[in-house]
Amino acid sequence: MSATDIALMAKKLVAPGRGILAADESTSTIEKRLSSVSVPNTPENRRAYRELLFTAAKAAPHISGVILYDETLRQATAAGVPFAKLLAGQDVVPGIKVDKGAKALAFSAKEKITEGLDGLRERLAEYVTLGARFTKWRAVIEIDAAELPSDYALDVNAHALARYAALTQEAGMVPIVEPEVLMDGGHDLNRARIVTERTLRIVFDALARQRVQFEGMLLKPNMVIAGAKCATQASVDEVADATVQVLRRCVPAAVPGIVFLSGGQSEALSTAHLNAMNARHKDVPWQLSFSYGRALQASALKAWSGSAANVAAAQAVYALRARLNGAARSGSYRPEMEKERVAA
Ligand code: 13P
Repeated sequence: MSATDIALMAKKLVAPGRGILAADESTSTIEKRLSSVSVPNTPENRRAYRELLFTAAKAAPHISGVILYDETLRQATAAGVPFAKLLAGQDVVPGIKVDKGAKALAFSAKEKITEGLDGLRERLAEYVTLGARFTKWRAVIEIDAAELPSDYALDVNAHALARYAALTQEAGMVPIVEPEVLMDGGHDLNRARIVTERTLRIVFDALARQRVQFEGMLLKPNMVIAGAKCATQASVDEVADATVQVLRRCVPAAVPGIVFLSGGQSEALSTAHLNAMNARHKDVPWQLSFSYGRALQASALKAWSGSAANVAAAQAVYALRARLNGAARSGSYRPEMEKERVAA
């Protein structure tokens, strides 16, 4: 794809009313999710669960793209249709997580660096042939009330994000740049605001230095939110306003869209926060959308719990979640909509 086509693809991924499903859990992360509903982590169970999500026809109108894991991109439906082909047939763009996870950072007690740059150019070329049109790389930024993150951790993670993003565009795909400031810990909203702003400044500086085209990328940030253990939790509107304030300061208007991660927030709260941003800040230069993992899947996973008899019910739960997040794209979500049902 040319630079123009990459920019068009980035725009398509943040088209109004739709957002991204992050279904790119690594084998060890999906283990945690499956074991929470007592399902063994076998290749077939992983495949069956992803088939449930990708064949939920009522969700597809609200889903612009799906991020897959390497194994999943190579899997197919029980009837033998490759997942990438199945998604593309529903006008849902297949994407791929290309990082190899966050590992301990040398000479650091707690911080992490994301690996996966070696051989990335060759892996990207293969992913294009398998049908992927966008990619994701997640950097994990540890935060505490006083010291973390270090400049060291921010610099090396931003450098890696930019190297990844440049290679992805060179390969003709859209990079989703994900610097996730964690919501673990007891820090307050203001601390999250300061650290998120510092992180995004460094990331965009690295992206510019490494010649990444802002028009052909998406940013996947955390929302600005107090740590999960902080006694004072901000209101939905306060989170929305603080998040948009930080983004306005740091994200160039040339970036077509911002697709939030949910990061451990509940399903309803993730939707409410996105909705408030879109309802209260209609004049921002980018699309404000979602790229949720847990916040799109948690209830559906529970409803399924590994039983073929529950597939239709789980798909209905997932389709409702997708529809509510689709409504949050235009600020038209209301909490009462949580009680609605989607016919399977
Ligand atoms: P969560 O929405 O569950 O945080 O997952 C999004 C994601 O892709 C993290 O890399």
